[in-house]
Amino acid sequence: MLTVLIWCFLVPMTAQSASCPLELIPKRVVERHGASLSVLCRPTTTSAEPDVIGWESPIGKWNLNMPDNKSVTWNVENFEDWTFEPFCFGTFSDNQCSVTLPITLYKTPDTVSISVQNHSGPLQEGRSYTLQCDVFNVAPVAALTVSWLWKGEMIQTQTYDDDLTKTPENVSSTWEITAFRNDSNDMITCLTILDPKQDGPSEQVNKSAAYQVIVHFGTATRQITLTITPLGHTTGVNYCLILVVIPVIIIIMCIYCTKKRGRLDIV
Ligand SMILES: *[C@@H]1O[C@H](CO)[C@@H](O)[C@H](O)[C@H]1NC(C)=O
Ligand SMILES: *[C@@H]1O[C@H](CO)[C@@H](O)[C@H](O)[C@H]1NC(C)=O
Ligand SMILES: *[C@@H]1O[C@H](CO)[C@@H](O)[C@H](O)[C@H]1NC(C)=O
Ligand SMILES: *[C@@H]1O[C@H](CO)[C@@H](O)[C@H](O)[C@H]1NC(C)=O
Ligand SMILES: *[C@@H]1O[C@H](CO)[C@@H](O)[C@H](O)[C@H]1NC(C)=O
Repeated sequence: MLTVLIWCFLVPMTAQSASCPLELIPKRVVERHGASLSVLCRPTTTSAEPDVIGWESPIGKWNLNMPDNKSVTWNVENFEDWTFEPFCFGTFSDNQCSVTLPITLYKTPDTVSISVQNHSGPLQEGRSYTLQCDVFNVAPVAALTVSWLWKGEMIQTQTYDDDLTKTPENVSSTWEITAFRNDSNDMITCLTILDPKQDGPSEQVNKSAAYQVIVHFGTATRQITLTITPLGHTTGVNYCLILVVIPVIIIIMCIYCTKKRGRLDIV
């Protein structure tokens, strides 16, 4: 019964961290996966000093800070736990409360690569294709933007704000293109920007290898068709007719010329 009472009393207090007179410096941590962290927890005012203060964390170490022991620092080297968040607690004369440290670890992708869905080799003019950019092992995806660059211009961007997964994920972005001959030899690149601090300067940029658009277009194919057209084909017949008719005309003209010259000889 007593335990239940204490539990009922403590839990709402603990949950209400907003009114807890403890502050964390920094308030939240956004660091590369494997970074070393150091966070100070101290009372917000001298009028509300805790009787006891400490960190609740099986990871890392915490120390009371000398000389007054009213603030406490949590230190961890090579922090790699994607989801763990420690909290700092304080026992005051009239209550006990805690403040959780929000931690975001980030990691740039292992690879960024472009492929064409269900296709390999040159593209056929006039047909549509789906290009796919695969981004492997990146966290957190909510901080990721995947963009398509064509002729140096950003033509499409995709974000994943709704995905609150903290551990690394694989994501892909697709882009539909219709192949035209004037696109041939263009370079397409997939660009990823990871901005976990949402402050711009600290963003991490990665690029795929450039995908070169090779469009196989009509004329080349048609020329080949012409040379291999069987004789029965209309185009083939016309072509043959010219080949046959021209020599025949030349032969007739030659015969006519020789006959004419022969007659003159007789005269
Ligand atoms: C602070 O804490 C340390 C270790 O717990 C202790 O040795 C020291 O006497 C304390 N200092 C004060 C002023 O309470
Ligand atoms: C094309 O590729 C996509 C994804 O790679 C796959 O889901 C789909 O079934 C494929 N379609 C055909 C017709 O092969
Ligand atoms: C990402 O893809 C790799 C390679 O296909 C796979 O080994 C890994 O399990 C995937 N990760 C996730 C979170 O699905
Ligand atoms: C390429 O050709 C297509 C179709 O002929 C046309 O719509 C497009 O504007 C052309 N692009 C450029 C850059 O000339
Ligand atoms: C991604 O970019 C970071 C720096 O922004 C770099 O350290 C890392 O090696 C890059 N990863 C790949 C796969 O290119």
